Formats: sequence, C-alpha cells, structure tokens
Amino acid sequence: MAIMTDRENGVISLQTRRTTYQMKVDQFGVLLHTYYGGRIGSDDMSYQICTLDRGMSGNPYEAGKTRRDYSLDVLPQEYSCWGTGDYRPSALKVRNADGSRAVELRVVDYRVEEGKYTLPGLPAVYAEEREAQSLFVRLADRYTGVEVELQYGVLPELDVITRAAKITNRGGCAVVLEKAASLCIDWQFERYDWITFHGRHCMERIPTRQALRHGVQSVGSTRGGSSHNYNPFTILCEPSATETAGACCGFSFLYSGDFLMEAEVDQVDQTRLVCGIHPDSFAWTLEPGESFQTPEVLFTYTDGGLGQLSRTLHRVIREHVCRGEWAHKRRPVLINNWEATYFDFTGDKLVQIAREAASLGVELFVMDDGWFGKRDDDNSGLGDWFPNEKKLGCTLRELGERINAAGMKFGIWVEPEAVSEDSDLYRAHPDWVVQIPGRRPCLARNQLILDFSRREVQEYIIERVSAILSSAPISYVKWDFNRSISDNFTHSLDPRHQGEFSHRYVLGLYRVLETLTQTFPHVLFEGCSAGGGRFDAGMLYYTPQIWCSDNTDAINRLDIQYGTSFGYPISTVGAHVSAVPNHQTGCSAPLSARGCAAMAGTFGFELDVTKLTSAEKEEIRGQIATFREHYDLIQNGDYYRLAAPGEGCAVWEFAARDGGEALVQAVFTRVEGNPVPFHVHLQGLRAEGRYRVGVTDPDPVQGSKISKLWFPRECVVSGAALERGGLTLPLPRREYQVWQVRLTLCGEDGQ
Ligand code: DGJ
Repeated sequence: MAIMTDRENGVISLQTRRTTYQMKVDQFGVLLHTYYGGRIGSDDMSYQICTLDRGMSGNPYEAGKTRRDYSLDVLPQEYSCWGTGDYRPSALKVRNADGSRAVELRVVDYRVEEGKYTLPGLPAVYAEEREAQSLFVRLADRYTGVEVELQYGVLPELDVITRAAKITNRGGCAVVLEKAASLCIDWQFERYDWITFHGRHCMERIPTRQALRHGVQSVGSTRGGSSHNYNPFTILCEPSATETAGACCGFSFLYSGDFLMEAEVDQVDQTRLVCGIHPDSFAWTLEPGESFQTPEVLFTYTDGGLGQLSRTLHRVIREHVCRGEWAHKRRPVLINNWEATYFDFTGDKLVQIAREAASLGVELFVMDDGWFGKRDDDNSGLGDWFPNEKKLGCTLRELGERINAAGMKFGIWVEPEAVSEDSDLYRAHPDWVVQIPGRRPCLARNQLILDFSRREVQEYIIERVSAILSSAPISYVKWDFNRSISDNFTHSLDPRHQGEFSHRYVLGLYRVLETLTQTFPHVLFEGCSAGGGRFDAGMLYYTPQIWCSDNTDAINRLDIQYGTSFGYPISTVGAHVSAVPNHQTGCSAPLSARGCAAMAGTFGFELDVTKLTSAEKEEIRGQIATFREHYDLIQNGDYYRLAAPGEGCAVWEFAARDGGEALVQAVFTRVEGNPVPFHVHLQGLRAEGRYRVGVTDPDPVQGSKISKLWFPRECVVSGAALERGGLTLPLPRREYQVWQVRLTLCGEDGQ
C-alpha cells in the first residue's frame, strides 16, 4: 500500500519504492510535515521535532497557555498560512471580508482513494488506477469557513509524489486569495544546495548551484509564461551530491504561467520550499461556495545523485505527463524553413526544400511563420489565420498535397495568442487584446496579446485553427508565443476580479490546447515560445515536444540541452541542425557536431538543404540513418550526463533500461595542444556483460583517417570495466571533434 494511515497517532506515510513522505496531525490539529527522504517505513517521525520557547515566535491561542514551546513559526508544516504566527514564506494568504489577512488551518479529516486524482482544466500527472493512490486532507479555518483540501498523488514504482490544493469558501462572505501555493515543504535538519535554471532568450536553462543561506531566496516569473529567465523546475541536494551519489529532491511545477519558487533557511537553520502561482499577479475572489484549484507540483527524492533524479523525472514526464498518440509514437525527422527563408518564400521554394529534404530521408516539412494574412515581416498579419494564397501560389491544401507528393508529411507554424495592430483581427476586435484602458500598451516584436482569458477569444481561435487544420493535410503544428505579457487587464472582468487575469489566461490557453489536441489526435503539436520561453511540464501535457531554444548554434546548444536535461526528457527537446555560420552566434561548428547536438533531442533540420554540397548531403543521410537506428535508445532509453560542456568535452550516454546496449556521444568544446586524454565512466551497463565497443568519428571525410590512429576501432570489455575503469576517448584532432561510441552486448559465444 502506498499510503499508510495511523489514525490513532495521526500519522500519514506516503510510501514509494525507495522513499517515504510523512505528515502528522498533531494534538492541535495542525498538519505537520515530519519526513521526506529515503524509505523508512511508517514510524512516527515527529520524535525528531525539537520544541523550545523561541522568544519572539508566538504560540497559537490554544497552545500558548500551556505550551510556550509550541510555535507555528518553527514547526515543520504541510501548508503554511500567512498572518497567524508563521513568518516564513506562506503557502496561503487570504484577505477576509473584514479586510484582515489571516487564515489558520486545522485538519478536519482525510481519506485515501485508489488511482491518481485529476485536475479538470489543468495539467496533471496521470496513471492507471493500479499504479497510484491519492490522499486528500481537509483542513479548515474555524473563523471564516475557508477550507483547503490538500491533494497528494503517489506513484510508488516511480518514486514520484504530486501535490496540489483546492481552496473552498464555505463561509458566508467573499474572500480574496492573495496567495495560493501548490506545495510547501519543510526540512528540519538537512542543509541543502539549491539548483535553479536561469537564462534568457537564446540561452535558456543554465544551471546555478548555491548553498541555501539564511533569508528568502526565490526564482519565478511574472511574464505571463514560465519564461526563458527562470524555469519552474528546481533541485535541492546535499552539498556533496554529484551526478552519481547523494541525496537530492527535484520539484517540477506543471504550470505555464507566472510562478514563484521560494526557499528560506530560517532562524533555527530549517529549510522551507514553497512553490506555486506567483502572488504578484494573483488575487482571486472566492464567493461563498466557490473553489479555487491550484496547479500541481510533481517531485521525487533519491540518494542516488542528480543523474538518477533526472532519470526519474524523465520517466514520469515521458510516461505520465506527455499524452496522446505522439507521446509514445515514433516522431518524424523534420525540416523547418524558418532559418532557410525567414519570411521570404513562395510555395515553389518550400516544395523545392521539401523535395530535397525528402531525398535525404527527412519525413516532415514544417512551414514556419509568414504563410498567412499580410505577413512578410514581423510587423503585421498576426491574428489573420487565413492562408496567403498569393504568396503560396496555391491553396493550403494544394501546398500540403505537393509536399505529400514529395514524400513528406506537412506541418505549419501558428502563434494564436498574439495579434498585430496591423491585422484585420485587431481592427475588428480591438477589445480582444490585453491592454489597460486609457494606456498605451508595451509592445514586443511589435505585437500585442490576445486575451485568452475570454471565452469568445478562445472559441474564435479554436474555430480558426480547426478550420485551418481541416482544410489541408496537416500532421504537425508548431505553437509559438513570442512575447512576455504585460499591461495585465481583461475587459471581461470587473475591477474586483482583475487579479484573476493571469491565471485565467493560462486556463484559457490550456482549454484551447486541450480542445485542439483532442479534436486532432493525429496531429503532432510542438510547443514553442520564442524557443524555450515556455518549456515546462504544464505545456508538455499538451505538446509532447517543445522547441528548446531559438539558438541553433550546436555548441551553445550543448549548454542549453545540458541544463534542460536535468528536468526534462530527451524526447521533449526540439533540436535542429542549422546552417553555418550560425545565425545567432556567427560560429561555424562542423556538420558532425551539429548533427550530434540535434540528435540529443527530437532531431530535425532548419536550413536550406538545396544549398548543401553533395558531401554534406551524404553526411546528413548518414546522420538520419544513425538517428533512426538508435531511435528507441535515444528517445526512451536512460540518459546519463557523463561530462558537462564546460569540462572541455560534453559527453552523454543513452543506455537501454536493461543495459543491453548503449550509445555514447561526445563533442569536444575545447581542444589543446599536446592534449590530456578525456576519460569518462560509463553507467547503466550490466557489470558481468561483455560489450563490443565501437568508436566512430561521424565525419565521413576526416573520420576514417583519424579514428584509426588513436583508438582500436573495436574492442570487447566488461560492463564493470567500462563503469569502474572507464573509457578513454580518442584524442581530438580538430575543433568540435565528435566521437560516437556504440556498445553492444556480446552473446555467450562472444559474438
Ligand atoms: C520564434 C520561434 O522560436 C522561431 O523558431 C520561429 O518560429 C519564429 N518565432 C517565427 O516568427
């Protein structure tokens, strides 16, 4: 049983294969958090709590007379409240009808159900009934009638737990939620490092690791999307944790809007983490009888290091967050025309690219921005989702059929959440944009935002995109969003409810995506927000892959994809080979390095293939063949970070879950004279198994010459030797040298 309740002592233990999460209803009805870590069974862990009169930390009324050592200010809790004596970051802040800001929760009851709860209208981890259990703990404020249901999902086999909260106003007067987080968790004794993922447009999800210090530290977004700047995924780990050892917890917020993750080391060195919707852009009025549902956080703990943490997260996102037939189906190798043509194309030019790409083995052609309305640059046309037949030289259906006739599937780009001032849609519905009456709005890329919090806007977009998808043989959609939201305001709500706009926008977006993905189940949707500006587990519930960054420079991509891999599986990482010199950096990585970086993702191309030399085309044919050969290993295998790009050589490994085969890829990021050999320890192999190790340089011209000189082309070694002894990579002989190492298990006869 995953959830064990000891009603007599008020102890609730959530058990997974290797972890235990425990809470306790204490004598005052407060829900304490008593443990999260390696599996310990169901002993009441509250014996660890050290109570002491902390002077300036007050006591709840019922405790104060006898227990001056009992303070909510220092007790570890499951859902902290603002205004009633806990001064650390709160999960819940309520403005009551009398203007006071106070809430005090005490447990009313709890129940366990089979299966994993769902959250209508919001992304949530899903599981078969036999794979999960759910716990619901009901707490209430005795003064106002505010009630909170804490929701927990437990997936024991995966070591994954989820949390969310539903807040209901059972009182007689309206209240305003000023903060409603999804998760609060306290550690009494652990001293943690905090790993967050920061970035900017074209340089997303760079990991930063710092020891948590006294005071509140936070990352978050108020940009309307989860943002390029801070990702809604974070790790707390013990200072000694490495890729292969050490305690660490990972928290992934299934939400694509404004978020806040706060951590505090408090006065007595305890650590608290609170995750949820960002309170700066949130104020939600609950009339009597109304409820508010928070989004969900999924999390996991391991003492097996950061690599194991990532592999668990990869698995849960791949198998229990990404949905639809494309979550598991083999995805096509695609070519996108954006960097090949930008806005400057005709239907004939696209067909030319598609034909050439088809001859190389590419399976899907994606027509990017510029095919609709008056859209020859990024100053106009957004919102006018009607094909520009003059530019295409034919109808959308005819273009799709021409692409199909070239042997390719056909896909399109859309940016339905945005609108240009110079568009028919804006002229017809100026009140559909996000704008504060009487103020000029902030422009970004010269575009405005459509108010997705409004039902009629959602309906219009559903109707328009559906009409487009039904009008032509379209099997892929790239859903883009190219600006941050500002001037938060909706014409559809009265002043009292304006604080609901940001979250209502996200709910609207989710509703549109849900409707479209359910109506067009065969279409593969790829998320995008100026690259990776909305790369989060919430979007992955609707789009099983996301364009990882607008930066297509292979060497920069090594860093971006390295950071991304901590929280997200390879199958979600949109990655393409592009032209050199690279359009973002001006740098020229060899085609072998560009192919290798893109292969550590969904793999595609984004260049004018008609301009390639025949040698380059041949190399691309080889890359596609390699990707196809190893598709299952790359997309569904276990991923190991063996060396970070900053170490001079980025090395990663894909291993079959049973250790039956593996593929190691390495790209040298620094090459020195008289080089020191680069050595890595492989992982995920069978210790006793004997592996045939084949090293290749995927550059067909240089490769044959060099690999012979520095490495025996093939040898047979045990898994134990490769893991414990390691593998020395052949020395690099040029900039951005790539090595590809295939490991295949030999049969008993050594073959
Ligand atoms: C931003 C995307 O990330 C690019 O790939 C491209 O689709 C452009 N938008 C088109 O405007």
